[in-house]
Amino acid sequence: MKSSRIPGFYKMPIRERVRIVSEFAGLSEEEEKMLLSFNALPENIADMMIENVVGCMQLPLGIATNFIINGREILIPMAIEETSVVAAASNAAKMARPEGFKAKTTEPVMIGQIQILNPLPDAEEKIEENKEDLLNLANAQDKVLVSFGGGAKDLEVRKLSDEMLVVHILVDVRDAMGANAVNTMAEAIAPLLEKITGGKALLRIISNLAVHRIAEAEVVYKKEAIGGEEVVDKIVKAYEFASLDIFRAATHNKGIMNGVDAVVIATGNDWRAIEAGAHAYASMNGYKPLTQWKKNENGDLYGKIEIPLAVGIIGGATKVHPMAKISLKILNVKTANELAEIIACVGLAQNFAALRALATKGIQAGHMKLHAQNIAFMAGAKGEEIDVVAKKMIEEGKIRMDRAKEILDEIRKK
Ligand code: MEV
Repeated sequence: MKSSRIPGFYKMPIRERVRIVSEFAGLSEEEEKMLLSFNALPENIADMMIENVVGCMQLPLGIATNFIINGREILIPMAIEETSVVAAASNAAKMARPEGFKAKTTEPVMIGQIQILNPLPDAEEKIEENKEDLLNLANAQDKVLVSFGGGAKDLEVRKLSDEMLVVHILVDVRDAMGANAVNTMAEAIAPLLEKITGGKALLRIISNLAVHRIAEAEVVYKKEAIGGEEVVDKIVKAYEFASLDIFRAATHNKGIMNGVDAVVIATGNDWRAIEAGAHAYASMNGYKPLTQWKKNENGDLYGKIEIPLAVGIIGGATKVHPMAKISLKILNVKTANELAEIIACVGLAQNFAALRALATKGIQAGHMKLHAQNIAFMAGAKGEEIDVVAKKMIEEGKIRMDRAKEILDEIRKK
């Protein structure tokens, strides 16, 4: 059976890693070459994706190992510029084996908002009476979505002031992120809403607070696997800090988003939408952590995340960007919900790793090696010199550019 547990993956040469991932995911020779080219977005596709293109801004793509999600072994592509994130996720996933993570999602329902100004006093009842016509008109815009079981399902009306109503159209967007389908439907029903309400429709746009499109993941860390009951208690206290203090909650959630965004970006999804949704969701009852941690009756650590995740596997960059296509192939997901489940688990794992490090040895220890290597590289070290300079700086406890240059001079003189 395939396993995402690949001991020593981090020490292997890049080509060997690619070979293993390729075997795991059944990549083609062309896809392997694409990964190894470190230059996967062709000029013509880049030029088509946005305006005024002059180049490409690349990010490293790493693979988080060790994940088991709903019983499935999964390798997870993560695109991120920050050191230690991929290692932390992999390590957190390793400690959760062999049970791994459990995850589920709601139906992929997004909200389109239509703002109505100066409606007649009975506008709310009128909208209710005409609901079916409004939904039919919305669904006439996207027959394909409807044929796949998606489409506009319901309407909600919210009165924001005496002069302003907002109508929410709830659209099951199936495997899309959904902005296109929802915005098209919102625009299409606005004129009919004007007629029904006697008001004027102004904005017609998706809401990124995707409260109906929630992914949930859970994990139990056995106390022996994470350093004992003392570590469990410390992680619970670290969580309580975030639940009591917005300053800490922001950083706690940032750590979750390190993992979430990295997979969202690797799969070509809209990470600004995910960020906006996650933080707005965290604020619905005062800004709170997106995860919860507690000690269960056996003294083990139980963790849970609940996060809106509007991600797609069709449309947009997911189907255009060659790396996004490869990432989705590695993940082997059949639905957008399955992708959301994986992303929620990565967020939970990332949070666990951060809290465990912070509550025990501190975060800097784990950052040191790659940080020292970066400094050595910036000081001009090449090839094997990088490790030698980095190692010496760590031994001395001085990770600085001036010291890196001195050490480099010393080893070059020898
Ligand atoms: C750093 O990118 C993320 C952390 O600050 C998250 C946290 O503090 O929980 C380590």
